[in-house]
Amino acid sequence: MDPSSITPNRLFNDLAYLWPVMSPPEEYAEEAECWRKLLQERLGPGRHRVLELGVGGGHNLSHLTSDVDATAVDISRPMLRHSMALNPGVEHIVGDMRYVRLGRTFRAVLIHDAISCITTARDLSAVFTTAAAHLKPGGLLLLAPDYFADSIVLPHAECHTYSRGDMELTYVEYTYDPDPADTMIEVIFTHFIRSGGELQIEHDRLHAGLFHRSTWRKLMHAAGFEFSEHSFHLPVADIAYTILAGVLR
Ligand SMILES: C[S@@+](CC[C@H](N)C(=O)[O-])C[C@H]1O[C@@H](n2cnc3c(N)ncnc32)[C@H](O)[C@@H]1O
Repeated sequence: MDPSSITPNRLFNDLAYLWPVMSPPEEYAEEAECWRKLLQERLGPGRHRVLELGVGGGHNLSHLTSDVDATAVDISRPMLRHSMALNPGVEHIVGDMRYVRLGRTFRAVLIHDAISCITTARDLSAVFTTAAAHLKPGGLLLLAPDYFADSIVLPHAECHTYSRGDMELTYVEYTYDPDPADTMIEVIFTHFIRSGGELQIEHDRLHAGLFHRSTWRKLMHAAGFEFSEHSFHLPVADIAYTILAGVLR
């Protein structure tokens, strides 16, 4: 099969109903603890106003709403609808993290794994400019890229099965780099969806950005942020986890 014949980004459009099944909110508890720790350390005590860009289903955010007042932006209406149901106290807005301007500032801008949807240095700079436009000096930007060019090993394949109600979903995820000369990799999904005695098979592909640590540092610095990197170990998942932070100068 020619990968270019697979419609891209179905996961955030017609296949968005699979998101809470394949990536359940409870699986975010461990990493959300790292976000809570950094927010508390950097912002101090109190209930702070934060903006999440690319909130998706709001799964990570759902573990933080007891501590913060949040506004959430996403380019996908179906994904925002998941977050609205999960996080009813959060203000939700449709927007593109590269260009959205809400005309107000927050104590922190959070961009969880959605930052991996940004595939060029130019667009990353646009996102950092958006973040800076929504912070005052001293404001905090936190991001969690899924991939770093310094350490990624490709190709990589994973297979998972989840059940919810009468649906059983098995998905195979294959990540590869079609062109090592650019900053984009591709993730091909095949979903096996069993429901009501029927098996449905759907293909999807997502593009993700792949940048060196030095590029993250350089672009964040150019957008006005003092850069720092925070490494964690998630004991249950037994994986290393990195959050990049920027403090607006
Ligand atoms: C993997 S999902 C995020 C999941 C989220 N971290 C959660 O906890 O549920 C990535 C999200 O980024 C959004 N996204 C991708 N590009 C975007 C852009 N330019 N502006 C805003 N949202 C974007 C997608 O629509 C999708 O909802």
